[in-house]
Amino acid sequence: MKSFSSFVPAFVAIVLGLVLNSAVFANGGKTSVYVRQVQKAVDMPLDSDVFRVPPGYNAPQQVHITQGDHDGKAVIVSWLTEDEPGSSVVLYWGENIKQKKKAEGKFDTYKFYNYTSGYIHHCTIRNLEYSTKYYYEVGLDHTRRKFWFTTPPAVGPNVPYTFGLIGDLGQSFDSNSTLTHYEQNPQKGQAVLFVGDLSYADNYPNHDNVRWDSWGRFVERSVAYQPWIWTAGNHEIDFAPEIGENEPFKPYTHRYHVPYRASTSTAPFWYSIKRASAYIIVLSSYSAYGKYTPQYKWLEKELPKVNRSETPWLIVLMHSPWYNSYNYHYMEGESMRVMYEPWFVQYKVDVVFAGHVHAYERSERVSNIAYNVVNGICTPVKDQSAPVYITIGDGGNLEGLATNMTEPQPAYSAYREASFGHAIFDIKNQTHAYYSWHRNHDGYAVEADSMWFFNRFWHPVDESSTSQ
Ligand SMILES: *[C@@H]1O[C@H](CO)[C@@H](O)[C@H](O)[C@H]1NC(C)=O
Ligand SMILES: *[C@@H]1O[C@H](CO)[C@@H](O)[C@H](O)[C@H]1NC(C)=O
Ligand SMILES: *[C@@H]1O[C@H](CO)[C@@H](O)[C@H](O)[C@H]1NC(C)=O
Ligand SMILES: *[C@@H]1O[C@H](CO)[C@@H](O)[C@H](O)[C@H]1NC(C)=O
Ligand SMILES: *[C@@H]1O[C@H](CO)[C@@H](O)[C@H](O)[C@H]1NC(C)=O
Ligand SMILES: [Fe+2]
Repeated sequence: MKSFSSFVPAFVAIVLGLVLNSAVFANGGKTSVYVRQVQKAVDMPLDSDVFRVPPGYNAPQQVHITQGDHDGKAVIVSWLTEDEPGSSVVLYWGENIKQKKKAEGKFDTYKFYNYTSGYIHHCTIRNLEYSTKYYYEVGLDHTRRKFWFTTPPAVGPNVPYTFGLIGDLGQSFDSNSTLTHYEQNPQKGQAVLFVGDLSYADNYPNHDNVRWDSWGRFVERSVAYQPWIWTAGNHEIDFAPEIGENEPFKPYTHRYHVPYRASTSTAPFWYSIKRASAYIIVLSSYSAYGKYTPQYKWLEKELPKVNRSETPWLIVLMHSPWYNSYNYHYMEGESMRVMYEPWFVQYKVDVVFAGHVHAYERSERVSNIAYNVVNGICTPVKDQSAPVYITIGDGGNLEGLATNMTEPQPAYSAYREASFGHAIFDIKNQTHAYYSWHRNHDGYAVEADSMWFFNRFWHPVDESSTSQ
């Protein structure tokens, strides 16, 4: 009796599950039922703890690091001194080596309307050992500050590595919650792939660049210790001819250096790096990308260079998403998708991360490349050579959440939810990576969405059935 009575509900559940499942697929994937009261995100006031200036005359502040070459043996260390130039030297030493080495950087300043920046230092330290903890020091005398980082393992096919994903962070109380969740996540990201829109200083009158400084101090607690890989978003453009500021990306390019020359790029807005078993291509939604443009020519040459025997995982970062079913920035990524999507399918990109839309969304593996001007074939179709597209623009900036979604949910959209959060892409080996998305309203270890990724080159099996 007992076994029979438990059998019936189980059977009903299976049938119901199948019915629901096919219904869900016809209407796209899952729109989370998790709905919260939407409150306006508010920027933390300038006297907040997270913006505190480090003590001491001319103390280095806003310390941040990023990868400094193509392979992960160099690091760019950047910081700012407020009162005078001070020193652009970085002292550094491996954990087990007591002798300090010295690298000399450079400093620069810039003006924006009536704002004059402090002295911005950039110093590249090279020829580091792989998989090694290094300490480094910036500043002079009693205002020296010490930090540390760990270099990635040597580039190779079977090297586990854990990336964090953050986008559109800003400097609101929600931004602070996102960063704290990332730091406290037990999966421990080793480097952040940042998909653009850093400080949102441009939302202030005259793009008050003081908010670029406060943002630099806010994120220091993470980015001084692990590299953040930068992508330029629309809030990095800072184009403001009405106040005489005609040079796009001026504050961003002065403050955030990237190793673009190491990948033969001619501008800091598109470039690539290898890190452990990943090949990461950063693209610019806000630089020309049409045929014959520098970015187009670069990408055309870049994709065939990716050696999947060396770096099995091919990851692309950009700011404006190509597949986005929210009623915000709808279709903004469309023209770039038309230009580059056939290449992403041809070269079997594993995953594309974007931001811009202040919410979360994960797509099925789809492509939409059959269309030409006369055939009218313009519906995204399931495609096992195509990437998964993930929008992770939910860092928590002051503009608030994007909550308005297109209805019905398109078939290509696997999961969407208007919550702030971050994600983790945890590469296990050549064939498997575990991906999870974490919303700020949950405890640090909770996964609100997750999926096993199977590598498109080495194990191109449909993994959508393993999605939760
Ligand atoms: C810049 O100009 C704005 C308004 O014109 C003013 O409120 C602000 O104090 C000025 N800042 C500096 C650093 O002069
Ligand atoms: C930001 O988060 C940190 C870590 O949770 C906390 O110590 C700090 O007080 C927070 N600051 C603000 C202004 O919320
Ligand atoms: C690709 O990488 C593998 C492993 O590092 C190496 O043996 C092979 O020579 C590389 N192929 C090319 C074309 O560079
Ligand atoms: C959601 O967006 C659509 C399309 O832009 C608009 O027509 C509609 O009024 C919006 N709904 C809300 C509740 O804002
Ligand atoms: C790769 O990692 C996955 C997940 O941990 C595991 O199931 C699989 O056996 C691993 N493959 C190899 C070749 O070790
Ligand atoms: Fe944006």
